[in-house]
Amino acid sequence: MLATPVVQKEIQRRRTFAIISHPDAGKTTLTEKLLYHGGVIHETGEVKGKQGSKAVTSDWMELERQKGISITSSVMTFDYNQLRVNLLDTPGHKDFSEDTYRVLMAVESACMLIDVAKGVEERTKKLYEVCRLRHIPIFTFVNKLDREGKDPLTLIDEVEKTLNMQCYPVTWPLGIGQRFRGIYNRLTKEIWIYDQRREEVEDYKVIPFEPGKDDAILYDYLDKESADQVIGELELIEGALPPFDVQAFLNGEISPVTFGSAKQNFGVDTFLNFFTQYAPGPQPRKTKDEKTIDPCDANFTGFVFKIQANMDRRHRDRIAFIRICSGKFDRGMKVQHSRLERELRLSYASQFIAADKATIEDAYAGDIVGVGDTGNFAIGDCVSATGKVRFEDIPKFAPELFGKLSVRDALKRQKMLEALKHLSEEGAIQLFYDPAFGPQDPIVGAVGELQFEVLIHRLQDEYNLEVKLTRLSFSVARWPRLEGKALDQLNGGFTIYRDMIDQPVILLNQEWDLNWAQRENPKVEFATSISRAR
Ligand code: G4P
Repeated sequence: MLATPVVQKEIQRRRTFAIISHPDAGKTTLTEKLLYHGGVIHETGEVKGKQGSKAVTSDWMELERQKGISITSSVMTFDYNQLRVNLLDTPGHKDFSEDTYRVLMAVESACMLIDVAKGVEERTKKLYEVCRLRHIPIFTFVNKLDREGKDPLTLIDEVEKTLNMQCYPVTWPLGIGQRFRGIYNRLTKEIWIYDQRREEVEDYKVIPFEPGKDDAILYDYLDKESADQVIGELELIEGALPPFDVQAFLNGEISPVTFGSAKQNFGVDTFLNFFTQYAPGPQPRKTKDEKTIDPCDANFTGFVFKIQANMDRRHRDRIAFIRICSGKFDRGMKVQHSRLERELRLSYASQFIAADKATIEDAYAGDIVGVGDTGNFAIGDCVSATGKVRFEDIPKFAPELFGKLSVRDALKRQKMLEALKHLSEEGAIQLFYDPAFGPQDPIVGAVGELQFEVLIHRLQDEYNLEVKLTRLSFSVARWPRLEGKALDQLNGGFTIYRDMIDQPVILLNQEWDLNWAQRENPKVEFATSISRAR
């Protein structure tokens, strides 16, 4: 049964997306400018500290501030062009791919941010691959046009070749670096001229422009060399490119490219206008039993894609972020928790606007709500107002670094085990144990070095635990399966460990050992990731 027309209208105006980028490409700066255009913040600098200290909404943790990197992902909401936009931040650091993947499961599109001087960086490539796995449409925003960088044709060629993705320039930069004066919007046939002498630009000129016909205008605003270059480039692309193919974009085959400078607030509004016109709203979602749930269905459904503990230190809270897949959420509503097979009341719910967390009364498919959790939720859990629902699994990635922790004060060992359990439920680390010693002696697994650093820091900062990490020599974790079923025994004398949901797993020192395991057990599949139980 479909929701009421009023609810459907609310659902249809939701746009949920994530920004992905290599660290330093300007994600925080762009986020800030988007929130500014959305009227959420009134002065830029509210999100990012002026002196480069990231006193940020999207960066909660002290370590992030110290390191200047974004390692957790957060959600921010604003209205623009009558749409409700939910922006999910993603960690740029490679050690947090899993977190990124989970965020991408909760969005309908992504914006790939590229630094004009650096082009496609290693991390952009990896994140892009994750997007491609999910087949989500990708916008590209080329940033830092106020700095010298690659010329736009070279950059587009690089994106196309490196990512094997066709690009469609929606805007075109007028000059670059010191000579950057504005952008040409190919769809609306207008040039937007900015004044670069001012740090924050509010006034700009919008002039109708037809390439080939109105070229003379460019000489009024650009130096001769830049104007000649733009005219030549536009001649080339206008003649060569077919019209924007919306369906190819929605299929994730073409990426529309816009140019600008997040810092100077150039081109951000053009991007937003384009985004609100073409970004897909909430889409139907497949369930594990091959059903498809329409976002406008009257029944409320959703899944937990992120858990964050201790966002508010004073209250030692833990928030489960639920992506609503269908229907309407009302604060205090009762839902069925599919994994626990019991009813729960979602009494405390919030959304995030700039630095503030606001309590909300209702939310709709496409929205993300943070609900207070006392330990009922794990990543991947599904909820539904009526009946049971199980959406597609959220995979765990195989860790490559392993260690054991000891706590200085032996009396605090139990507290450390509790803390590790919390952090593993958040997906911050993975835990394994040898059945001979039991879960009281866990092995900690991480995908990257920084995860260990964050773990030690958080144990100290949030739990007041001073720990020492002793590295183990493992570097490979695989989950053995035979015909889709978990395997408890293998030929070759391998120790079978357990993960935290009691799945059998082998931990090996090197790839060579894995080859050996495979030779000894030719019919066995050694999976690199496993799904979280639902
Ligand atoms: P991130 O979240 O992707 O890591 O990037 P962030 O926004 O923190 O930006 C990284 C650096 O790039 C910052 O400089 C920021 O000001 C700068 N930046 C972002 N967008 C632009 C742009 O369009 N043009 C120019 N020229 N710079 C840009 P910083 O020196 O680390 O900090 P700050 O002192 O400038 O705040």
